[in-house]
Amino acid sequence: MRSSWTTSTGATPTDPATGEPADSPAWELLLPAASGPPRGRGRELGAALRQSVREGRLAPGTRLPSTRDLARDLGVSRGLVSELYAQLTAEGYLTSRQGSGTWVAALTRTPPSPVAARPGPPAAPVTDFRPGLPDLALFPRAAWSAAHRSALAGLPDAALDYPPPQGLPELRAALAELLSRRRGVVVAPEGVLVCSGVAQALTLLGRVLRARGHRVVALEDPGSLSQYPLLSAAGLRPVPVPVDAEGLDPGALAASGARAAVITPAHHFPTGVVHSPARRAALLDWAADRRGLLVEDDYDGDFRYDRAPVGALQGLAPDLVLYTGSVSKSLAPGLRLGWMAPPAELLDELVEAKRVTDLGNAVAEQAAFAGFLRSGRYDRQLRLCQRRYRERRDALIEALTAAAPGVRISGVAAGLHLIAEFPFPVPEAVCAAAGVRLRPLSDYCATAPAADATDAAPAPATAAHAAPARFVLGYAHLTPSEIQRALGRLAESFRSVAV
Ligand SMILES: Cc1ncc(COP(=O)(O)O)c(C=O)c1O
Repeated sequence: MRSSWTTSTGATPTDPATGEPADSPAWELLLPAASGPPRGRGRELGAALRQSVREGRLAPGTRLPSTRDLARDLGVSRGLVSELYAQLTAEGYLTSRQGSGTWVAALTRTPPSPVAARPGPPAAPVTDFRPGLPDLALFPRAAWSAAHRSALAGLPDAALDYPPPQGLPELRAALAELLSRRRGVVVAPEGVLVCSGVAQALTLLGRVLRARGHRVVALEDPGSLSQYPLLSAAGLRPVPVPVDAEGLDPGALAASGARAAVITPAHHFPTGVVHSPARRAALLDWAADRRGLLVEDDYDGDFRYDRAPVGALQGLAPDLVLYTGSVSKSLAPGLRLGWMAPPAELLDELVEAKRVTDLGNAVAEQAAFAGFLRSGRYDRQLRLCQRRYRERRDALIEALTAAAPGVRISGVAAGLHLIAEFPFPVPEAVCAAAGVRLRPLSDYCATAPAADATDAAPAPATAAHAAPARFVLGYAHLTPSEIQRALGRLAESFRSVAV
């Protein structure tokens, strides 16, 4: 049985800001910290609990579960939980009353901490459904630190010299195994190039293509607009090519004059379209006929919910497809760690481009990641995230449907975001009044998007009517109750302005 927090009155705890029911049962707030290696687990749990109290996720007056219940839910020893309660009571985060349990204390001031002492950025006033962000609180800090420590202990002195620009052999071996097992990528360790994310993969490739005489490169429209400046900086002219319900339009691609195209076939960013088998075949035909190159950006290929994974396109034609991905969705974008599996004929030029760009990725980080992969910890992390993100996606679908009956939701089978098309335009002011930030699909369009289709009859050109109806909503970084509360406020805002 899972324990949950209750308040001093026996009620479900509430969010101090909204007065609405608080999020999670106890175990959920603390689970990531409890799943780290035994050494340091107490410290991690303490940090997670302090943070929850400081941020108000555990409101003053909330009663903590008994040490026995919490220990059982977290799978840790009861002694560890007793120590944790005693420590935080001594620090003023908790109070305990003889015989009646342990409670969250009312913090009269922020407890001293080096971080709290520094002026931080202002608290975000809104629930931001920014797409593409994983839940950074799920980053496995303890396991990552352990991987670092063990990697550093195992590295000979000579390994601290400049690394091979292609990447450490042990990391390339671990990545080749991972990518072939999870994504069906056909690559040997000698064919993997370690880089600092998909962004750098595009930068390196842009230079190589430019040196080979390419002038233009095709990018998906809608798509990730941040790719445009990366490729322009490499001297290429990015041309937007439309994406329809089956994927990138091969006719428009052929007409674009490009001999290279960047695509997201497993889960298009941002529409969530999965490239159909026919479209995948047509694009491979294009590449074979034009001696072209398809760049497969597998940015969120690890997160699949309702169907079997769509294997990498690269597996069908490793000589026509450059595969690239990173840990930006699975661990954290701040690590700046990624990989490429390019066609063999491009490998040497790409490695040279990497060498002259930065002499290779940091050795300790590469060695730690190799150990993290080999130990199975990365797979575990993916499973944990997959479970959480599925719950959050389901919560968002339910909350959207309740807030706006008739809303059309798509792109939900995979990834960290979905598309919602409201049956009415939603002006920014309506979102702002609800303390919600939504990104219109048009933010991801290089050219004017197809009309923001609504079923409504033509209406006079008012500001509201000019407002968008289709939005891209990221959900992975928000808890189900944050999602529910935000959509509840949005529904209220819809009602008050009768959109
Ligand atoms: C379409 C797409 N590709 C790739 C990435 C990741 O880029 P990087 O690996 O450089 O962090 C993102 C990040 O948001 C993205 O939206």
